[in-house]
Amino acid sequence: MNPKRITIFDTTLRDGEQCPGASMNLREKLAIARQLENLRVDVIEAGFPVISEGDFVSVETIARELKTPVIAGLARCVDKDIDAAGEAVKPAGDRSRIHVFLATSKIHREYKLAKAEDAILRLAVEGVKRARTYVEDVEFSPEDASRTEPEFLVKVCRAAIDAGATTINIPDTVGWAVPAQFEALIRRLYESIPEFQSGNAIISIHCHNDLGLAVANSLAAVQAGARQVECTMNGIGERAGNAALEEIVMAIRTRPDAFPELECTINPEEIVRTSRLVARMSGLTVQRSKAIVGENAFAHSSGIHQDGILKKRETYEIMDPIEIGWGKTELPLTKHSGRAAVASRLEFLGFKMSREEINAILSRFKEIGDKKKFVYDNELAALARGQIAEAPETWSLDYVGVTSGTVTVPTATVQLKRVRAEASGKDNVLRDASLGDGPVDAAFKAIERLTRTGGRLKDYSLQSASQGKDALGEVTVKVEFEGQKTVYGTGASTDIIEASAKAYLDAVNRFLWQSDHHDKTEP
Ligand code: KIV
Ligand code: ZN
Repeated sequence: MNPKRITIFDTTLRDGEQCPGASMNLREKLAIARQLENLRVDVIEAGFPVISEGDFVSVETIARELKTPVIAGLARCVDKDIDAAGEAVKPAGDRSRIHVFLATSKIHREYKLAKAEDAILRLAVEGVKRARTYVEDVEFSPEDASRTEPEFLVKVCRAAIDAGATTINIPDTVGWAVPAQFEALIRRLYESIPEFQSGNAIISIHCHNDLGLAVANSLAAVQAGARQVECTMNGIGERAGNAALEEIVMAIRTRPDAFPELECTINPEEIVRTSRLVARMSGLTVQRSKAIVGENAFAHSSGIHQDGILKKRETYEIMDPIEIGWGKTELPLTKHSGRAAVASRLEFLGFKMSREEINAILSRFKEIGDKKKFVYDNELAALARGQIAEAPETWSLDYVGVTSGTVTVPTATVQLKRVRAEASGKDNVLRDASLGDGPVDAAFKAIERLTRTGGRLKDYSLQSASQGKDALGEVTVKVEFEGQKTVYGTGASTDIIEASAKAYLDAVNRFLWQSDHHDKTEP
């Protein structure tokens, strides 16, 4: 093992997907996995196979389709979890990994697991051993490691290595760590366990961002000897998220003086494209001022800065935006762009689509092209995302019309078409009208009546997918069904009422699909 090599372990599809609202379907996950392969990450944690049929299938499919990265499946130290992970990663052959985890901190031992230290040690060893019956490459995580008593943490790591784990991941599960302390903890582990020094096992770290310190803690750990970094694109993840892949990679590349001779195989030119794809597929937009990948990351507005940049770029830029993939977007498409141009642009944006799907996007693309001068990448991607998400559709929107004004009661008329097969005798095209507090509310109420679903709108956001007054509006809604199931939906159109109706219907479709097919159980 090269002691200077940093393994990039991407968990966008597992921890990233645990971010509220980031739930993705199989095709969306596969598109991201393929792009992560282009980015050249070393390991992709593709999911938590025991959690649902959908998670199992996506890990299995990613393990089958991808050719270079190691594919990991997550499991608790529980037989059924490990068996599911072992089966799901099997198609990756000698690139398959099982990642088992078990909480070790006092608070988790006492309140969550009600188990003493010796029972935890025994379960960890049994879990690693069982995983080794499926794969050679086993990673063990003592969950909440940063709050675990260091002596016990060393003991657990020692036992996991003796049982056959070759990667020991130290999660800062609740984002509690601070850099100097975390660095000291990693150094202590490195110095206490000879396998870390000989390279027969490596220390990994997995930092959460509750105090905004995930990247700082990860980099401090690297300086203390950690050689695998677990991270997600755009930093998405449970609660405040995980360490952002792009920030870790660019910090190591930009500051060789602080990280002497360390290397990773990431292709930085794919960073922006990957970031955009993840934002599109997960529906989690990137904050404008986000480091490396935010719209403003390389925008210089002050005259003094602009003047400096023109004289010498390095006066105000510590990284070359071209090297990260900025500026690679081509001229926007117009209504005159043909099928081939749209198809190749979609491929460039990371969407692998069938002929029929491209045709469907093309007709929507032409409609938009008729209304505005340019169709930008973001807009095309929004259309493609709609197309991808349409796979499990039960209802599609035929039309929505509204009347509203300062003195009229807002009214919406909606016509829906049933797409998914239903018991015979039911109408396939339904129309209804409803009043509401505003035109959007009226449209939502009409959709509810037609689909016979009673949802409660918990959140609504409207974003422009591009520049200009004729920009495509992208709406995201969060809807609670049956008082407990929260579902997100997105919709895009140049008309915000239509975008809103599409987003609401997307949420309804996802809810109906999940009710029929989802067997999600809490881990
Ligand atoms: O944050 C955490 O502790 C995790 C583990 C499963 C590694 O995500
Ligand atoms: Zn985590």
